[in-house]
Amino acid sequence: MCICSAFLGSQPVLMINDPELITQMNVTDFNKFVDRNKFVSGNGFNDRNIFNLIGDEWKQMRSVISPTFSSGKMRSMHPIIIEAVKRLEAYLATKAERKEEVSLKAVMSNLTMDVIASCAFGTRIDTHTDGHTSEFVTQAQRALGGNWRLWVFFLFTSIFPQLLKWTKFSPIDPGVERFFRDAVSSIAKRRKSEKVKPRDYLQLLIEAQDRGNGAHPSGPDTDDKLDTNAEQIFAETGGQALTGHKTSHPIISDDDFVTNSMIFLTAGFDTTSSLLSFLCYELAINELCQQRLYEEINKFCDDINYETISQMPYLEACVAETLRLYNPITTVGRIADEEYTVGDTGLTIPVGMFVAFDLHVLHHSPEYYPDPMRWDPERFMPENRHKLVPKTYMPFGTGPRNCVGMRFALMEAKTAIVQLVRRFRFRRSVNTTIPLKFKKFNFILDAEKDIKIEMKIRD
Ligand code: HEM
Repeated sequence: MCICSAFLGSQPVLMINDPELITQMNVTDFNKFVDRNKFVSGNGFNDRNIFNLIGDEWKQMRSVISPTFSSGKMRSMHPIIIEAVKRLEAYLATKAERKEEVSLKAVMSNLTMDVIASCAFGTRIDTHTDGHTSEFVTQAQRALGGNWRLWVFFLFTSIFPQLLKWTKFSPIDPGVERFFRDAVSSIAKRRKSEKVKPRDYLQLLIEAQDRGNGAHPSGPDTDDKLDTNAEQIFAETGGQALTGHKTSHPIISDDDFVTNSMIFLTAGFDTTSSLLSFLCYELAINELCQQRLYEEINKFCDDINYETISQMPYLEACVAETLRLYNPITTVGRIADEEYTVGDTGLTIPVGMFVAFDLHVLHHSPEYYPDPMRWDPERFMPENRHKLVPKTYMPFGTGPRNCVGMRFALMEAKTAIVQLVRRFRFRRSVNTTIPLKFKKFNFILDAEKDIKIEMKIRD
């Protein structure tokens, strides 16, 4: 067990990387550690984002957002993802014909941008070819880019949290905020008059907002059976997710509506493109694994759909192992809501203390994962799962406040890999870096230089 303390600006932080304690605090004692932070800036765009919401307001918002990520909803969004992957395939085929190398992070970011534009903003774009001219891409890149606002925001939160409140400072540029507000509200208006409505995330939010305003009373999602495989391997939520609060049709304000469409960009963009890049890289340098995956995919012939991509054990293992070795988010944090004694350590945390849980250390510990720096999907094959040490794997966090977009990310990544491995053979090129080096001071794990490989069209 390792517990240590540090300072984040002026804020003392307790760092924990013991699997039992992490689970106890995030799952069993979740109600004492609900929030990531406690600052309210007064800027609705910032404060109403589910990532930042606090206490009961978070619970209400989570109860609205979670159903939009049910299996049934994922199935209805799956064709949108397939369409986006086909645009990527067309682009890669041109690269392959010209015998050009592929920059993985760049192409996977473009794919993820296309998927987000379609699913969260009802806007079809082709970032691979029109990226330079698309206003959507320009504004999204401004929202994502490590701009000065983000750094000032973190400075304020860690050293002068009061300044946030006084200045209502937002890490998002006001011009970007205006662009997305206008975009979302004009699409929402247009949708109201359309007879056939697309089954995307934006439409699900529109319906949730209507329900809050008393329109369209809805029943439970009858198509919400769990992806048991994914649920079991990737995250534990605990049984007590959202107790003691009112879940019936909360009111969704316009701020809520826009800022919670933006979560796809702020929380789902870099994470998913990072998973896809590292997975393609590993398949390129481990050709036997790639061949095995190709053979597994071929068993499903042309029957590739939302159900079948969940029935491929080797695909699941490759994704899981990539998220172990290259977990995009290395640390998650919570604030203590009450004084708390940490297991049998004798340590007592005061109210308001920030606790950081180090997922990276868990995933890379030789005690839990022998030869931890080796990418080895075998660890996650069904016949080997009993050897995994429980509670040591949590790429999507753990407990009721884990990643709400997990199913979406897994669906997108699996769909892309299945389509791409069927069509292309990934190979290392003269410029493929082995071993990889990583960027410092990045929020999301990223290689120091974009990863280059070759993709050849299969015979
Ligand atoms: C491979 C891709 C992804 C990874 C590895 C990932 C990982 C994570 C992690 C570690 C957390 C923190 C959990 C915690 O504090 O316990 C998180 C939270 C979150 N993620 Fe993801 N994520 C991914 C993709 C996505 C996508 C695609 C979306 C949206 C569509 C998304 C939306 C969110 C949101 C909204 C939260 C905050 C949840 C809350 O506070 O209730 N993520 N994610």
